[in-house]
Amino acid sequence: MRLLATGHAVRVARSARFVAVPSTASLRRASSNAALEQGTRQPGPPGVPCAEEATYEKTRSDILLKKDGSRSAAQAPPQSPVPSRTPFEQYLIDEKKPNTILNDEGSSGVVISSRPHTFDATTNLSPSILSHVDRRLYMQPDHPICITRKLIESVFSPPTYENHIASNPVVTATDNFDGLGFPADHPGRSRTDTYYLNENHVLRTHTSAHQLHAFSRLATRSSTTGETQQAGYSGYTICADVFRRDSIDRSHFPVFHQMEGAHTWGYKPSKTKQDSRYELFKRRKNEIARDLYDLPSHGLKVQDLNLPFHKDNPAQAKHDHEEVRLMAKHLKKSLEILVAKVLTQARDAGGSMVGTSQEPLEVRWIDAYFPFTSPSWELEVFWQGEWLELLGCGIVKQELLEKAGCGDKIGWAWGIGIERLAMLLFGIPDIRLFWSQDERFLSQFKEGTITKYEPFSKYPECYKDVAFWISAAPAAATPVAETGSRGGVAAAAAGGDARKASPAESQLAAFHENDVMEIVRDSAGSLAEDVKLVDEFVHPTSGRKSLCYRIVYRSLERTLTNEEVNQIHGEVVARLASELDVELR
Ligand code: DAH
Repeated sequence: MRLLATGHAVRVARSARFVAVPSTASLRRASSNAALEQGTRQPGPPGVPCAEEATYEKTRSDILLKKDGSRSAAQAPPQSPVPSRTPFEQYLIDEKKPNTILNDEGSSGVVISSRPHTFDATTNLSPSILSHVDRRLYMQPDHPICITRKLIESVFSPPTYENHIASNPVVTATDNFDGLGFPADHPGRSRTDTYYLNENHVLRTHTSAHQLHAFSRLATRSSTTGETQQAGYSGYTICADVFRRDSIDRSHFPVFHQMEGAHTWGYKPSKTKQDSRYELFKRRKNEIARDLYDLPSHGLKVQDLNLPFHKDNPAQAKHDHEEVRLMAKHLKKSLEILVAKVLTQARDAGGSMVGTSQEPLEVRWIDAYFPFTSPSWELEVFWQGEWLELLGCGIVKQELLEKAGCGDKIGWAWGIGIERLAMLLFGIPDIRLFWSQDERFLSQFKEGTITKYEPFSKYPECYKDVAFWISAAPAAATPVAETGSRGGVAAAAAGGDARKASPAESQLAAFHENDVMEIVRDSAGSLAEDVKLVDEFVHPTSGRKSLCYRIVYRSLERTLTNEEVNQIHGEVVARLASELDVELR
């Protein structure tokens, strides 16, 4: 039992009781309680609507449901006044509040980072995903995620870059997609790929969701007009957890961490005379060139075969080609310096992880597409015999900077997956380990040092198959068994190539593999190591399609018993049958 009585929690009527959330399905129930709603764009105070104390029952995943609440929307007190914070700053607040699902007679919602959100027909959260919100691995000094964050920040550091952490994972769908120019039919928007709290709010799928606010902040903090010219920051980094419905294997987890970085150059008017537009432009271009030549050299072998821009990866109409060339070089070299530092440290720590003394460290640039940059690139590293995608980047779309109030600036941005970098750095073989609370894992890492991970033991796996008929055709955008199609846990992807697929959104009723993954995650938690389609066929007469998935169960910390696995698998099978439109075979 737990009493939530502080000003930082949702408070409901004293008589209210709460029970555990039974399943994802219950979270899908539509909500009508408008009183719970409070947009994340409208910064709210730590306290939320209701005024009295409540009693809660704590559950496995710290998720709570109200059982017999009688409060109606009409009785709910008005929302608290909005304090004067800028929209971006609200994401920087570090308030330690548990996530709480409230269900009030047909209306339900969740409190995340002290802000309430009402569910609606769009909601597709699961208790398992919510149990990972607020873990803040990036704040734990001895954790590999935090060590990696600080390593990145040491390359992109003040006074040039302001380093942010965005602790509230809830963003508006506008910030996550529309504001960045995602087309309406981009597959990343679909409910099979993204966690929706409701129609307007999502768990961010990438740190780029904060770009607009971060650029606005840059605009106000680095005023360069007239006599009041201040230096300010010219760039930023943002570290945060991001959420994507995805496949299950040793390098995919639905919650992972990203770091966003950007650098801008603006017009710097002379203090003493009226500049012509040409003079302003020339000064800006010279500054980019100066910054480029001031970057230190690195020892990486780099392949970069493409022109900096061309018709399939064009420079923007508003940009001067010489400036784009200089910015592209500055962007690429800045990231090469980062990767050289990471890979060298990884090699020094473990010998065999990245390259060897005989094998030179090698990276390559390839053209890419993101809705919010043009031209765009990805950086890959040659690792254990194959090219591995590390990050996405590009020249920021000018409309974005204009919207953020800094149209006189031009700049670049990148997004990198922290887990992938950390897996290289520390030689961590399974992404689930980052969430481990086992001392045998945690005690291996120390702030500021890179050490090779020593597996403490390998416990046996246990696999089980489940086969079923699906009634609707698989959604076109993400066909069955297209695992890892969004670029991997740590890779770029949320902004990936919209031209590669059509949206799944129009086929809500259709079978989607990510829904299987979600049920497995929710029932098995981190005991699910891998889920793969092992067989599929179409019945010759009925035309129905059968799929068979193999689920590998394995604990990273102990040997699982048969009974335990049977019980979990039984729950998975029962939920597949009851929550998806499938018929077990
Ligand atoms: N947000 C992208 C993703 O998660 C990564 C990315 C690509 C970030 C290009 C950027 C960028 O800032 O310029 O897939």
